[in-house]
Amino acid sequence: MKLTKILVLCSISLAWGLLFHAPTFSSNDIKLPKPALKGKISVETGMLNKKSVRHFATEPLTIEQISQLLWAANGALPVDAISGATLKTLPSAGGIYPLEIFLLTGGGTVKGLPAGVYNYNSTGNSLVPISGEDARMALAQAALSQLWLAGAPAVVVIAAAFGKMTAKYGNRGIQYVYMESGASNQNLYLQAESLGLRIGTVGAFNEAQVSTAMKIPSGITPLLIVAVGR
Ligand SMILES: Cc1cc2nc3c(=O)[nH]c(=O)nc-3n(C[C@H](O)[C@H](O)[C@H](O)COP(=O)(O)O)c2cc1C
Repeated sequence: MKLTKILVLCSISLAWGLLFHAPTFSSNDIKLPKPALKGKISVETGMLNKKSVRHFATEPLTIEQISQLLWAANGALPVDAISGATLKTLPSAGGIYPLEIFLLTGGGTVKGLPAGVYNYNSTGNSLVPISGEDARMALAQAALSQLWLAGAPAVVVIAAAFGKMTAKYGNRGIQYVYMESGASNQNLYLQAESLGLRIGTVGAFNEAQVSTAMKIPSGITPLLIVAVGR
């Protein structure tokens, strides 16, 4: 291959990486416990009992519960031995997986985890710290003052890098991203039921204010806020 061709290919892949891959926020990843692959209730019971709530007990969650919830929302599956494909807990158009999951906690609301905003790293099943602030009240205010959100021990934000999907599918990719966020939300509901936890979804919020409250980078759009507790 000619040198110029190699240089062009290198620049394209570099530009791709810069444009469409979520930035690495920090190298201080917090490793999460391995998610369990068996639950205590059937999927059918989960669907039957699922319910949105807007009030939570102050009792903290455990890191095992957080790991299980985040894995359900966007976790990686073991690499397929035949195809070598890396798949996730939800379907994704073209296997692109544009979703980014964030976690907001307060001081002591998750045992052993400091207050802060974290990005879920599905590959390593770990948390990448973004900020050490309890951003739940700022988030609640950005959600048209649905202040009950600030009382949830854990708030999960389902966000997406739309550019990853539209790069392949153009405008049609936009609806694919919304579909995938719904799949992620439903996984969270079923997982919460299985863990005996309570959950509520918020779609009414100001995107720019949510991004500012969480300090998430441009190029990643918040789609749904999901509060979890007991
Ligand atoms: C996309 C979406 C956006 C929602 N936004 C809000 C919201 O902003 N505030 C809220 O209290 N509930 C919100 N909900 C929860 C719905 O009100 C709730 O799912 C509905 O009343 C049905 O109740 P159930 O989930 O208990 O079955 C939202 C649900 C979805 C799917």
